[in-house]
Amino acid sequence: MKSKIIALLRENDQYISGQELCEKFGVSRTAVWKAIGQLKKEGYHIEAVQNKGYHLVSVPNLLSREEILSRMKTKVMGREVRYLGQTGSTNQDAKRFAEEGAIEGTMVVADCQKSGRGRRGRNWISPPGENIYLSLLLRPKFSPDKASMLTLVAALSVAQAIFAETELKSEIKWPNDLVLEQKKICGILTEMTLEAEYIQSVVIGIGINVGQKQFPEEIKDTATSLELILGKKVVRASLIAQIMKCFERNYEIFQKELSLVSLKTEYEELLINKGKEVCVLDPRGEYRGIAKGITDTGELLVELEDGTKKEVYAGEVSVRGVYGYV
Ligand code: BTN
Repeated sequence: MKSKIIALLRENDQYISGQELCEKFGVSRTAVWKAIGQLKKEGYHIEAVQNKGYHLVSVPNLLSREEILSRMKTKVMGREVRYLGQTGSTNQDAKRFAEEGAIEGTMVVADCQKSGRGRRGRNWISPPGENIYLSLLLRPKFSPDKASMLTLVAALSVAQAIFAETELKSEIKWPNDLVLEQKKICGILTEMTLEAEYIQSVVIGIGINVGQKQFPEEIKDTATSLELILGKKVVRASLIAQIMKCFERNYEIFQKELSLVSLKTEYEELLINKGKEVCVLDPRGEYRGIAKGITDTGELLVELEDGTKKEVYAGEVSVRGVYGYV
């Protein structure tokens, strides 16, 4: 009920009477009064005026289950939110919840991670109070070989959500890093659990540098954050809800064809590698070529000097720009 009260107060500029809240949610005045009291304790500035009712003056810039739920406009994605102030890794949590039977669309969000994980066994530095660390649980019915495309669907969704919230046009470094001003702002780690040859769960882990101002030495030249670029605050809960909305739309499209054919144009418009020379770090031998776009199944198309085209599979190799990170 708390998240519904916040949503209602946020959407209404005027006062809402206690009576109206009671009727709307079918609860007693005491229950409303208690919920308002709890919200105030959590940092919501709610004005209560006799004979007029309640009015929301300001919300805390804190991430909480209520803040996220109150902004959610999806059917499946994020319908269940597990919020943790601090955890090891939201991907690990989501995998555990999946084993315990959590439903599709369950989203784990943390304010801080102590052992955040990146791709290729790297760490994902996850300080409190400023960024987004979330993992979304899916229970797809398709075959495991299709799952690698989800990571591209997720990257596109996050880029679209960032644009909708901030008007910042991030670009995608294939397959799933998001880049602004040539620096990384988002990383995605997708993990699949199989049961025999069937998918038991897919966890899409998304880390976004939202408010971080300082980065450790090893990534300070290649990482930035939304607020550093924008010069103003970004409401994390709002961006999370927008990501769920964009992902729900794109996932529905993807599920119909089980390919990226209908999302390819949107993806390629954001693909920073397109038309650029890339270096493919294939364990069987490094090579260079021009990135032409992606295939319907998400591989990167690279044209070599002699005109032959190679399809690069995500996960197998890493692709670098010839002059640095991008
Ligand atoms: C990368 O290396 O680019 C992927 C980084 C993924 C980080 C996110 S943060 C939320 C989720 N939990 C984790 O431990 N990792 C992912």
